[in-house]
Amino acid sequence: MASKKPLVPDATSDTQGFRSGLTNYGDAGFSLFLRKAFIKGAGYTDDALDRPVIGIANTGSSYNPCHGNMPQLIEAVKRGIMLAGGLPMDFPTISIGESFAQPTSMYLRNLMSMDTEEMIRAQPMDAIVLIGGCDKTVPAQLMGAASAGLPSIQLITGAMLTGSHRGEVVGACTDCRRYWGQFRAEEIDATEIDEVNNRLVASVGTCSVMGTASTMACIAEALGMTVPGGASPPAVTADRMRVAEATGAQAVEMAKTGLTIDKILTPAAFRNAMRVLLAIGGSTNGIVHLAAIAGRMGMTVDLADLDEMGRNTPVLVDLKPSGAHYMEHFHAAGGMATLLRELKPLLALDALTVTGRTLGEEIDLAGPSFQQDVIRPMDKPIYPQGGIAHLTGNLAPGGAIIKQSAASPALMEHEGRAVVFENLADMANRIDDLNLDVQADDVLVLKSIGPLGGPGMPEAGYLPIPKKLALKGVKDMVRISDGRMSGTAFGTIVLHVMPESALGGPLACVQNGDRIRLSVARREITLLIDDAEMARRMAAVATLRPSAPRGYRKLFLQSVTQADQGVDFDFLQGKPNDPTP
Ligand code: FES
Repeated sequence: MASKKPLVPDATSDTQGFRSGLTNYGDAGFSLFLRKAFIKGAGYTDDALDRPVIGIANTGSSYNPCHGNMPQLIEAVKRGIMLAGGLPMDFPTISIGESFAQPTSMYLRNLMSMDTEEMIRAQPMDAIVLIGGCDKTVPAQLMGAASAGLPSIQLITGAMLTGSHRGEVVGACTDCRRYWGQFRAEEIDATEIDEVNNRLVASVGTCSVMGTASTMACIAEALGMTVPGGASPPAVTADRMRVAEATGAQAVEMAKTGLTIDKILTPAAFRNAMRVLLAIGGSTNGIVHLAAIAGRMGMTVDLADLDEMGRNTPVLVDLKPSGAHYMEHFHAAGGMATLLRELKPLLALDALTVTGRTLGEEIDLAGPSFQQDVIRPMDKPIYPQGGIAHLTGNLAPGGAIIKQSAASPALMEHEGRAVVFENLADMANRIDDLNLDVQADDVLVLKSIGPLGGPGMPEAGYLPIPKKLALKGVKDMVRISDGRMSGTAFGTIVLHVMPESALGGPLACVQNGDRIRLSVARREITLLIDDAEMARRMAAVATLRPSAPRGYRKLFLQSVTQADQGVDFDFLQGKPNDPTP
C-alpha cells in the first residue's frame, strides 16, 4: 500500500499521529523513517499509520483485581477507536491495587501520575484514553493527563458485583470492616469470618460501595471527563463494554477537534465535582484528589468553600457507607444522569464535557426520570447537608475534615479525655491491651500518619475500637488523626488534621488525659488547654522535616505537600507547560 505522505516531516503540518513527537536524532526525516520501519515490523500499513493515533493507558495487573476486566475494556476501546477512523495504541503504566501497595497506595499515586504524564508526552498520540478504577489510579491518571495537556478521556473499570452471606447482600469494603469489627468483638467466630472472606468480593471490579473508587468515578463524570453514564456500570456488564466502545470513538472525535483537557478542567468543572462529592456522601479522599488535580491546572480547592457548598447540598445517594445500597443499584437507578438531574439548580451547566457538549446539554439529553429509591429527590435527602464538613480550631489551624454523613449523631457534639497513640506501631502494640486505660467517651488520638509522618498518609484514621470496649459492644468513638480513612469506612472520625504532627502541628502536643472538644455544628476541633500551655508545648515539639537518603522516598519526603494541596509534589503543581526534553 502506498504512503499517502512523504517521509520527510513538514514542520508546519506534521504535528499529528505517528509523525509527531519524533525521537531526537538530529534528522527528522530519519527519525520518522526509523519509527515507521519498526512499527511496520508489527504489521501496520501506511494507511493505518496515517490515522489519528489514540493512546490507551493500560493499567492491567495481576496485582490489581479491581482492573481485572482490562483486556475486555481495551478490546472495546480499540473497537470504538477503529470504528471512528483512528489507530489505537495501548501501552502499560504503573497500576496500583489498593490492598497490594506498601506502605500505602497514596505514597505511589504521584509516581503513577508522573509515569502517566511522561508516557503521554514521550509517545506519539493525538488523544489519550485513561483506563483506571481502583482508588488512586483515576486521580493519578487525571493529574498526569492534566499536566500533559492532550485531549484526554477517562474510562472507569467499574464496580464489582455484590455477594451474599447467609442471606444478606454484602460487598467490599464497608461490610469487610463491619464483619471484622464483629469478629474483633467476638460476635462471630473464625469459621464465619473465613466464610465471609469468600463472599465479600463477587467479581473483578472496584469496591461496590461509595468508597474512594466509586467517588472518583462519579467525580470524573461530574468533571466532564467521561462519556455520559461512564461512572456507574459494573465492571462485568455489557453496559460497561458499551461505555468503553463509546469512549474510544469519542477520543477520536476529541483528537480531530482539538478538545484538550484544559477546556474541560475549568473552575466550573471543579465546582460541579465538589457538589457531586457532597451529594453522593463521597469519600473524604475525594477532596484530596480533587485538590491535586486542580493543582495541576494552577487552581486551588478551598475547604471553606466546600463547607459552604455543603450547607445547601444534601446527601442524595443512598449507598453504603452513608446509606444502604451498592453501586449496581446506583447504576440501575440511572446513575449520574439521575443525580445530576436532581442537582441541576446547583450546577454550573455551561461546563464543557468530553462530548463537546456542556453538562447542562448532557443532562437534557439523558432519558426521563423514573421511580427508584436509591437516588433521593432534593426534598427527601438521606442527610440534610453535604457529606463532608470542614473543621478548624487550635488543634487544626490549617483545617481538618469529618465525614458527617457517616458519623454517629450522638458524637457530633462531644467532649472527652484524650487517649494518645504516638504512631501506628504504638497503636498496634496497645489497642488490644485489655488493661488500656480507655473508656467509651474518650477521644482516640493517633499521631504521625500524615503525608510525611506515614509516610504517604495511610488510611489508618479509622482507628479500631479498643478491644476492651469492642467486647462491651462499643461501635463508635471520636477518633482524630492527621491521616486518611478509606472511603468505605464509617464513624465519628476527624481526619487530615493540618499541619500534620510530623511537621510540628499542634496534634503533636496532645497528651494523654487532655480534654478535646468536637463540635461539628460550630465546625470546631479544640484542645482544651490555655494558650500559654499550648505555646510551651509547641516550643518543645520537633519541627525537622523527615528525610530519606535516596530514591523515591527521598523525593517524596522532600516534595510532598499537605492534604489541602492534594498531597501532590510541589514541583508538579501549576499549569501545564510544554518542556523541551
Ligand atoms: Fe480497588 Fe477498593 S480496593 S477499589
